[in-house]
Amino acid sequence: RKGNATKEQIRLHNLVQQLPRAIIIGVRKGGTRALLEMLNLHPAVVKASQEIHFFDNDKNYARGIDWYRGKMPFSLPHQITIEKSPAYFITEEVPERIFKMNSSIKLLIIVREPTTRAVSDYTQVLEGKERKNKTYHKFESLAIDANTCEVNTKYKAVRTSIYTKHLERWLKYFPVEQFHIVDGDRLITDPLPELQLVERFLNLPSRISQYNLYFNATRGFFCLRFNIVFNKCLAGSKGRIHPEVDLSVVTKLQRFFHPFNQKFYQITGRTFNWP
Ligand code: A3P
Repeated sequence: RKGNATKEQIRLHNLVQQLPRAIIIGVRKGGTRALLEMLNLHPAVVKASQEIHFFDNDKNYARGIDWYRGKMPFSLPHQITIEKSPAYFITEEVPERIFKMNSSIKLLIIVREPTTRAVSDYTQVLEGKERKNKTYHKFESLAIDANTCEVNTKYKAVRTSIYTKHLERWLKYFPVEQFHIVDGDRLITDPLPELQLVERFLNLPSRISQYNLYFNATRGFFCLRFNIVFNKCLAGSKGRIHPEVDLSVVTKLQRFFHPFNQKFYQITGRTFNWP
């Protein structure tokens, strides 16, 4: 188990807090938590457990790079630290700020079929409202403009799923080779091949194996096995049941995302079977 280091361990093993050499920059609801936790199975990877929100939050950013480093876990010098903050992907200022820290950093983006992602995003917000006993709009009324009957591009869950628009902003700073796109739909159904592609992208030896991942039928998801005594599934908030969405709205959204998806495939060189 890779837990928190004790003071004794820090001194004995010369543990250090290192700036991340790779960041999962998004996409919200793409499977960012699952990706981080699964990569953490690798002995050369150390994760920052919390979302740090250093680059997207002006107040945090003003605290400076040493504050950021201080949020990182202790690790051995050869290990690589990874953090995830999905808001990075869609926040205007972030690419330039990350570039200023490390222009050769590796950037991971995990995506899902855009309409599914939008519904997942909605479901998370809905759950937050329900917890506060508030009522909330139906997904259909947020995603479709009542006057024009067209897709409402002002709705954040729609905008976040226009992956190419966001990526294009990042490409003003980083070459496309510095990004790796993870298929979030496949990470759900068959995670190992996706993780092996990431290992290769990070120049790590292939160390995550089928042993580390087992399907938990009760949970309906893959869970993580670190070793003979320690395994875990993600929190119950990962893998929510989505509300049923009117089929005509789903189709409208899929048609809307289609040209943006084509552009995304073209730029990234990774094609998905999205409708
Ligand atoms: P849903 O709640 O829509 O099913 P994020 O961590 O970026 O918020 O993404 C959450 C999504 O991760 C969940 O979306 C879930 O489908 C997906 N996921 C992928 N692998 C998972 C796993 N092994 N356990 C739980 N959720 C997983």
